Amino acid sequence: MRILVVGGAGFVGSTSVETFLEAGHDVVVYDDLSSGHAAAVVRLARLVRGQIEDQGHLEHVMREERIDAVLDCAAKSLVGESMIDPGLYYRKNVGGGVALLEAMRVTGVNRLVFSSTAAVYGEPRRVPIAESDRTEPINPYGASKLAFEGAMRWFAASHDFQAISLRYFNVAGATERNGEDHEPETHLMPLMLRVAAGEATHVQIFGQDYPTPDGTCIRDFIHVRDLAAAHLRALEVTGEGDPSFEVYNLGSAAGFSVREVVEAARKVTGRAIPARVVKRRTGDPPVLVASSRRARLALGWHPEHSKLEQMLADAWSWKLTHPNGYGRGPRTDGAALDRQPSDARGDRQISRPGAPASV
Ligand SMILES: NC(=O)c1ccc[n+]([C@@H]2O[C@H](COP(=O)([O-])OP(=O)(O)OC[C@H]3O[C@@H](n4cnc5c(N)ncnc54)[C@H](O)[C@@H]3O)[C@@H](O)[C@H]2O)c1
Repeated sequence: MRILVVGGAGFVGSTSVETFLEAGHDVVVYDDLSSGHAAAVVRLARLVRGQIEDQGHLEHVMREERIDAVLDCAAKSLVGESMIDPGLYYRKNVGGGVALLEAMRVTGVNRLVFSSTAAVYGEPRRVPIAESDRTEPINPYGASKLAFEGAMRWFAASHDFQAISLRYFNVAGATERNGEDHEPETHLMPLMLRVAAGEATHVQIFGQDYPTPDGTCIRDFIHVRDLAAAHLRALEVTGEGDPSFEVYNLGSAAGFSVREVVEAARKVTGRAIPARVVKRRTGDPPVLVASSRRARLALGWHPEHSKLEQMLADAWSWKLTHPNGYGRGPRTDGAALDRQPSDARGDRQISRPGAPASV
């Protein structure tokens, strides 16, 4: 397959790119580098700098690269920011997504896998959450993802698309080459590892009076390697059968409490990681975990790396080898996937028709 990974310079996308290449597929990354990193894209993949909203540019890339299928990981994904500027989330996540769908329709590419989120469910009435449960997002981030899923559904019905949306919560861990480097960082595990590395004084625990065994919230985590495997499997499945739109949760069904995660991080890093309990945040349900039964049955997907200690150990190891994230940490040029094909320049940029090659 020739796979276009939109948002492939980000945390989730870049690790999926590694998995696709290892499985023998060709990969082109399309990314505006707004929150991703050029250095996260292995050299065997082509990096095209562009915005998902730019339908003409996407069409050009899809034609020129003879793309068969698309993984869409590009999004604005900060809940707090989405509350302040919902328009941005609708423009990028919905408007941008529709531009991608239109580019696919025009160029005849009809296989799509989408990085969605369990934020589409809002505050669940029961856990673990199943795909058939009510979707009632409580922030514009979740709402924009749900709105795009609606567009996917109708493109599948009207234009013979085979489309799969994968909904997940917290992605964690790292590969040897790629890890999490967001600014601002809002995720628990990398924040804790910043404390472990001496970059911050303490981690905050938002409330310990929840109706859970240790009083702290329980959350679902998935190793980014397991996610990459699910993306690959989902892309393969889009090549089989009739046009359709499917939704699968990717969760652990059990989850870990915030306190458990902090304790495990202390053990894995051997560092103190001071934690301070502060007030609950509004809109934080006690337990958020998803059932991935459907994904296991339909995709044959089984998470193999999502044990708490392994996710933390892999993320910590990446942190130690990349103390300043991308750009300033030690390079990993020796990794097999970074070897350049003799006839390709890894960072080749494809220009928009009529635009300079340096876009
Ligand atoms: N990381 C998580 O815990 C998590 C959980 C659930 C869902 N998700 C979803 O997975 C996807 C990837 O998450 P991530 O953590 O890798 O985020 P990320 O910010 O690391 O990656 C997103 C990538 O998309 C690119 N991008 C953003 N807007 C773009 C645009 N308009 N045009 C082109 N490229 C654009 C960014 O530069 C970045 O490389 C997102 O859609 C997110 O909503 C992530």
